[in-house]
Amino acid sequence: MTKKYEPINAKVTHFLHGADYNPDQWLKYPEVLEEDIRLMKLAGCNVMSVGIFAWSTLEPEEGKFNFGWLDKVIEKLYKNGIYTILATPSGARPAWMSQKYPEVLRVGPNRVRNLHGKRHNHCYTSPVYREKVNIINTKLAERYSNHPGVIAWHVSNEYGGECHCELCQESFRNWLKEKYKTLENLNDAWWTAFWSHTYTDWSQIESPAPHGENLLHGLNLDWKRFVTHQTVDFFKHEIEPLKKINPSLPVTTNFMGIYEGLDYWKFVDYVDVISWDNYPIWHSNDDYDLACGVSMVHDLNRSLKNGKPFMLMESTPSTTNWHEVSKLKKPGMHLLSSIQAVAHGSDTVQYFQWRKSRGSSEKFHGAVVDHCGYENTRVFNDVKIVGETLKRLDEIIGTTVDPEVAIIFDWENRWAMKDAQGPRNIGIHYEETVKENYKPFWKNGVPVDVINMDCDFSKYKLLIAPMLYMVKQGVGEKIKEFVKNGGTFVATYWSGIVNETDLCFLGGFPGPLREVLGIWSEEIDALYDGESRLVSFDNQNELGLKGEYEAKELCDLIHLEGARSLATYKEDFYKGRPALTVNDFSKGKAYYIASRNEEQFNDMFYGKLIEELGLKKVVDTELPYGITAQMRTDGENDYIFVMNFTQEEKVVELDEKKYIDLLEGETSDRKLTVPGYGVKILKRTKS
Ligand code: GLA
Ligand code: ZN
Repeated sequence: MTKKYEPINAKVTHFLHGADYNPDQWLKYPEVLEEDIRLMKLAGCNVMSVGIFAWSTLEPEEGKFNFGWLDKVIEKLYKNGIYTILATPSGARPAWMSQKYPEVLRVGPNRVRNLHGKRHNHCYTSPVYREKVNIINTKLAERYSNHPGVIAWHVSNEYGGECHCELCQESFRNWLKEKYKTLENLNDAWWTAFWSHTYTDWSQIESPAPHGENLLHGLNLDWKRFVTHQTVDFFKHEIEPLKKINPSLPVTTNFMGIYEGLDYWKFVDYVDVISWDNYPIWHSNDDYDLACGVSMVHDLNRSLKNGKPFMLMESTPSTTNWHEVSKLKKPGMHLLSSIQAVAHGSDTVQYFQWRKSRGSSEKFHGAVVDHCGYENTRVFNDVKIVGETLKRLDEIIGTTVDPEVAIIFDWENRWAMKDAQGPRNIGIHYEETVKENYKPFWKNGVPVDVINMDCDFSKYKLLIAPMLYMVKQGVGEKIKEFVKNGGTFVATYWSGIVNETDLCFLGGFPGPLREVLGIWSEEIDALYDGESRLVSFDNQNELGLKGEYEAKELCDLIHLEGARSLATYKEDFYKGRPALTVNDFSKGKAYYIASRNEEQFNDMFYGKLIEELGLKKVVDTELPYGITAQMRTDGENDYIFVMNFTQEEKVVELDEKKYIDLLEGETSDRKLTVPGYGVKILKRTKS
């Protein structure tokens, strides 16, 4: 039995390939609009995201609407086989609105209201802004949401940032009242007796400010939660008219990877399909390492909706104009990085932007069509190749990735941990640490889900929780249950320190994880950059691992409480104390890594776990350095993506199963040659 997700829109059974399209900038150049259609077809594009920042063209004066141009664009695209993902325009406002209703303008943490300008800076509480958004969204939905060419909503653009105006302060206080019920509960949860910060009236509570309160961690944390809540609330407000008028048209809003300001998990129930914008800084340093981080974010986006394929909403066909140095993609990289998204579960490859704008701040940002205006360019040709490649992959649409391993990357944990003062204010490196723990699996071609602590763990064999500083209520029990039922759990130093309001666990760290890990963490030593402590695997440890490795940044000093030592510190006053432990807990095992270790340690340790637990590799072989292999499946057919993130050609020895090269259409050689920055897509059928 094969199992596939429905396509993003049932009408389209192909990969979507296209770009952000801003015809509103070119209305005085009818020949350009005409030429666009020819070029889109030539590039193998079948979708455009239209009208993302078109509000001032759609509503040039308050209440006066101008849809004629958009009618023509959508119709023309449709007649030429190109679908429209229609945007709501709230990402940027017309000047008349800011002028007439200053409350729509955002107020900064310093309590100064912005002047009109730029974008992504509205107040998400303002009733006026909400009303204006409702009007324009209603009009767009009435006019277009039943158009056969419109296949999805692109709601707003890259929500982000925060507003500190009086309206937002009031909403924040109401949100707190709802959450804590009484001021006493709030004072207790935030530990306000410290420095005499006790609130005696709700009206005394203000959002964090540089010139006011910003050291009350409970407040900071709740403010961040509120910002997510209010943004989600704004999003719900945006989609209300869209859903009322055509409930079946899917909605998405484009996320920004692991953008810190919004907990994307909180959007999940309200978006029909996840989409995100991906701008890696290729060729800046080590592309192989960078690609690992990119893969992890793709995995996160797929995991957000529990395996459902997502959309690569934006990527650049060549260069950005906002990285410190705007490098071009080297030959091969455009196809490789596009297919990388597909390999992890994207059913689309889309770009910012179709055509370079003639003026203003993004005129030098990469685009499918350059200022020269014709197709005779390297970049256009690269895009065409992606179009041609995607056309051959229809059968992959709706397939997914089915990992046995999950790693926790949790926003609330991240906010709390990074706000804490000590033990290492020059960098605690949460994001990097999660990636370091993910990387050995990626190098070995073992698929991984990237989840948060609220997710269901029961379907995994291995659960990794790097630096789970915050353990929310119930999570300790959930982990115990997971291990009890035979799961393997890996935790690291700086875990089990605080509860969900950032109050330290009393009675010994790692708090709710202490029993399952069988250790007590008494102290943690912090090292300067460049310092390290030697650790060595114990003689005849049960994993059979040998050798020494360097620990850096944080070294936890632990006591065994039932766990067994596997490795030991060799230096400093904690020489002889355990640095890696394992605890048997009912049917499962729980490991504790006491320090941040060099890559070689992670390779050895996780390499061993992959072997011990028999975790399935995408291809049963040793992958050469620079290569990763990822897989999507419908249960019967496996689609394997072998990707080379170095400039040199690599050879992969396939296992003895039969592989069809999907792009070449023939049986693949056992020795698979992958050119520098190249990708191979193979099909393997089970029966
Ligand atoms: C973001 C935005 C786009 C554009 C690109 C440029 O992703 O959503 O509008 O500004 O960045 O890289
Ligand atoms: Zn506001």
